[in-house]
Amino acid sequence: MLPVGSLLDYDFAAGTLTLRTAGAQLSLRFLAPDLLRITLLPEGRQMRPSVAVLPRQWDDVQVRLDEGEEALRLATPAMTVEVGRDPVRLRFYDRDGRLLAGEASLAWGEGAVAWEQAAPPEVRYYGFGQKPGFLDRRGRAMTHWATDESLHTPDHDVLYQAIPFHIAMQGSRAHGLFVDSTARVRYDVAKERADRLRILADDDYLDAYLFAGPAIKDVLVRYTELTGRMELPPLWALGYHQCRYTYFPEARVREVAAELRRREIPCDAVWLDIDYMDGYRVFTWDRERFPDPKQMVADLREQGFRTVTIVDPGVKVDARYPVFREGVAGNHFICHADGELCIDNVWPGRSAFPDFTRAATRRWWGDLHREFVNDLGIAGIWNDMNEPAVFNERKTLPPTAVQGEDGARVGHDRVHNAYGLLMAQATHEGLRRLQPDRRPFLLTRSGYAGIQRYAAVWMGDNHSWWEHLLTTVPILLGMGLSGVPFVGTDIGGFQGDCDGELFARWVQLGAFLPFCRNHAAMGTVDQEPWAFGPEVEEIARRYIQLRYRLLPFLYNEFYKSSQTGLPVMRPLLLEYPDDPETANLSDQFLLGEDLLVCPVYQPGATARMVYLPAGEWVDFWTGARHRGPARIVAEAPLERMPLYVRAGAILPMGPVRQWTDQPAPAELTLQVYAGADGALDLYEDEGEGYAYRDGGYAITPVRLSGTRLRIGAPEGGYRPTRDRLVVRFFAPGRVVVAERDGRPVTFRTAADGAAEVVLTEGTTDACELSFRVEG
Ligand code: GLC
Repeated sequence: MLPVGSLLDYDFAAGTLTLRTAGAQLSLRFLAPDLLRITLLPEGRQMRPSVAVLPRQWDDVQVRLDEGEEALRLATPAMTVEVGRDPVRLRFYDRDGRLLAGEASLAWGEGAVAWEQAAPPEVRYYGFGQKPGFLDRRGRAMTHWATDESLHTPDHDVLYQAIPFHIAMQGSRAHGLFVDSTARVRYDVAKERADRLRILADDDYLDAYLFAGPAIKDVLVRYTELTGRMELPPLWALGYHQCRYTYFPEARVREVAAELRRREIPCDAVWLDIDYMDGYRVFTWDRERFPDPKQMVADLREQGFRTVTIVDPGVKVDARYPVFREGVAGNHFICHADGELCIDNVWPGRSAFPDFTRAATRRWWGDLHREFVNDLGIAGIWNDMNEPAVFNERKTLPPTAVQGEDGARVGHDRVHNAYGLLMAQATHEGLRRLQPDRRPFLLTRSGYAGIQRYAAVWMGDNHSWWEHLLTTVPILLGMGLSGVPFVGTDIGGFQGDCDGELFARWVQLGAFLPFCRNHAAMGTVDQEPWAFGPEVEEIARRYIQLRYRLLPFLYNEFYKSSQTGLPVMRPLLLEYPDDPETANLSDQFLLGEDLLVCPVYQPGATARMVYLPAGEWVDFWTGARHRGPARIVAEAPLERMPLYVRAGAILPMGPVRQWTDQPAPAELTLQVYAGADGALDLYEDEGEGYAYRDGGYAITPVRLSGTRLRIGAPEGGYRPTRDRLVVRFFAPGRVVVAERDGRPVTFRTAADGAAEVVLTEGTTDACELSFRVEG
């Protein structure tokens, strides 16, 4: 490795400071006042187009250059970068002139580039995509290399996702760094040397983005402006999903679906894993197991279920198989340098792998979904094995396989981490073309920075272990802090046998995850919600039903996330960055800003410690009030997972439905937690399609001040129907009078302490409800 030496010369034109050193060029360009792009390009090397960064025209930024004797300083109102001349090294300062972490230096060598930066002891490190362990990753070494790794233990950090982005925090001030490399990237976060962060990419150049914050939310908002945000998913995708490796034949699929309905366990989708296919040939059906997929899908839909099918990238080498033949003819498969197809084993046996870095290949692949979605009615696609996973010692393709558009071919090792993202892009764009009026739903296992634009992500093959229940929350919080909000893990655990108590605790937690799917491996015990007897079934039913009641709230949070890039599922750190107690708190989390979810992670536990940050918190189950900051012991018998709501919150809820678009009376419930002032802008739309982009949505403003609640009329081009509007008012005392626009209305006091007012007329008119409270 060669450190970037001394500055030879530089120029500053069109907002870019270009610095030349012996053998390399370093460019610094502000895309926004708080966002700096830093590119180190050794001579003679080529940059690839980014797969993560959205093409867009950034507004011009006012930049000032000071040409000092020792250093150059490039400044915007939000940030300054100081470039030492000899040797070239970088220091970043925020708008208040405070140094971000410490001095950074760059180096390059044969096929590698490095970023080194001081890591003062008070700096904490978050994000990094999918990594085992807890929130703050200081003291750890990690590698980004998308891998089919089924041992999710602390010493196996190399998992399916590769997102080389992190957020560093000093006290409550944050800055971020994204190293846009799809090659292997290694991080040493103050491990080998306690005072140093070292990032090494096995790449030809370094293309990095520094986010100056200063708030953690500022970093995430900018990062997702750069790499894109989740599109609003169809509402059904937020329901409960039932999966298993593998439901077959058709009769078994129908049986599972019928059981869900008979037992009134709400569910929106039944999933088909690899055994629906003919010899694992993608885009085919095993006609013995599934003689008439179209009829089956239609019958399931009649009962309210969507059908989701798995689609893996490996295409079986079989001269009689049209997908393989077309792929060869269209030059869509990855080849070795000598032009031979790169063939290796995966589920179908010897398989070829589409080169999704090629636009024509992405288009071909997207169009392959035509029969599934347009003719058979498949509603969603599940992309798996897309690291890509291969059954060999390396677990993937050889580094020397070549990929890329003609004239811009590179070794697989340079673009390995992009495979899952580009496959998801191909699928997402295909679904958009094939069904322009539907929002695509896609689940992926592998991904790179920006994957949130195309797919929901699950964490792959976890185990039915209590330990994996415990790591579910931190791993998903890490994804959220890496820009990916639509995430979940296999509820009940994939590998190994679940038991009733573990399942009960898992489904309680799972009901609050952005993506909520039960899945289990072949050869493990049954894991449907009724598999563990009536007590556990009842717990599963109650929590899944609660998820359905919370759908208006969840959907609103998804909408907000699609607008801001902030996660749905949040570490307390995001909302309470000034509170040092939140720095590594990951055994409880917030949904949005208001709902505090405190899962139970141990067998036999009947209580758990809960940390309540500043403010007043209301027990969701009992209405009891607690003042934070405080640690409390929460009762948690098997049927209860502790849940708290922030005073000031207004939670929109709906009725229990067995599936999201089940016809049922339209009822909106506002659970109002008085004790602090609050606001809700409730987003609603059809839950499907794109009319919302042309004004087909409604936003209902609701304001709480003291014990007065003002509900505005919905604004926007979509008219929500509300047969009933229920306001459940949780007061810090006893409600004695309730009034609507100054006139008394009847209310009843419910078991959880809420004063409940039911309106059946003028339910979408603006109104004011006020409550007189005693005691
Ligand atoms: C992989 C997936 C898993 C799936 C299995 C069979 O292990 O991670 O979810 O069930 O392949 O397709």
